[in-house]
Amino acid sequence: MSTHDFEEIYTQYEAWFDPMQTDRQARRKRKPKAVHRPKKGRSDVLAEIAETTGLEGGFQTTYQPGLFEEGWLLDSLRQFYEMDYVSDVLARVRGGKEASVYRCQATPKTGMALAAAKVYRPRMFRSLRNDAVYREGRAYLKADGKAIKKNEHRLMRAIGKKTQMGEQLEHTSWLMYEYTTLQTLYAAGAAVPRPLAVGDNAILMGYCGDEYMAAPTLNTVTLETSEAHRLFAEVLRNVELMLKHGLIHGDLSAYNLLYWEGQITLIDFPQVVDYRANSSAYNVLARDIERVCEYFAGQGVDRDPQALTDHFWHRFMDGNKLNQAADASWLEADPE
Ligand SMILES: Nc1ncnc2c1ncn2[C@@H]1O[C@H](COP(=O)(O)OP(=O)(O)O)[C@@H](O)[C@H]1O
Ligand SMILES: [Mg+2]
Repeated sequence: MSTHDFEEIYTQYEAWFDPMQTDRQARRKRKPKAVHRPKKGRSDVLAEIAETTGLEGGFQTTYQPGLFEEGWLLDSLRQFYEMDYVSDVLARVRGGKEASVYRCQATPKTGMALAAAKVYRPRMFRSLRNDAVYREGRAYLKADGKAIKKNEHRLMRAIGKKTQMGEQLEHTSWLMYEYTTLQTLYAAGAAVPRPLAVGDNAILMGYCGDEYMAAPTLNTVTLETSEAHRLFAEVLRNVELMLKHGLIHGDLSAYNLLYWEGQITLIDFPQVVDYRANSSAYNVLARDIERVCEYFAGQGVDRDPQALTDHFWHRFMDGNKLNQAADASWLEADPE
């Protein structure tokens, strides 16, 4: 079944299965809006879901997904199961607007006891968030992580016309930016989860936490001042490492920093920005740094976000301009 077929089937249930809505009252309040009825009868739907789940495929999970979650989840993770990277899904760590993250039992092959699977939700594939700012200057990445070239007219046209294939290409690209960024940064020694594998709708990576709980996000943690200084320096080390690779996180804040055993891990990279190609890069960097400073200010670290942004910007952008100038042929052609 193609991703598009899944989208058709599972988006019908989005209104029913919403991990963000745990509050009963909130659910009751939104009921009048959730009047989407499945076009298919319940038994057809169940048959379709059963077809796609692990029931006949041998992929049984300890975690019991909800009815409207199961097909999408198991189909998204089946590749990792077949690659012998995961043997079980243990729990849902977090349900987010765009993705849900699951704690998985990893196999010995991975060298890890547990792994985190980030499964993009069907809704994500219907309406990507307002990502125009991030997309500027970014090539589209294919499933092999390589960029679509401008002369691949058929693919570029599909994206431009937003055909079914075009939308699929956009989704793949979004996912591949997250995955390839993890690969680049992990190899460079950044504090990011180790990337293990990527599938059509999901990324498998190192898991922060233990078998009982996932690492909390830093916004929920109160730090000793000395630890706060150490971790703030660690965030800046990572921001700098990213810039060295031409990258700005684009959604950096205490919400996308995990805290576990005194260490932080940066997560959530699909919107990463190439600062050499994006005209909003300065503002994106400024916002990332402001948000980080805002959290750390509350933990006793008083730093000026504007000064930090400018420091980084001049260091990297000025270097970049120098490189461009060095490449310019008019310099050599000048008879003077
Ligand atoms: N590698 C990981 N280990 C443990 N928990 C994770 C990991 N990656 C993500 N999470 C949890 O899942 C949540 C959502 O992941 P994230 O990548 O931030 O997606 P989004 O914010 O787009 O939904 C995070 O806030 C965090 O609680
Ligand atoms: Mg996040």
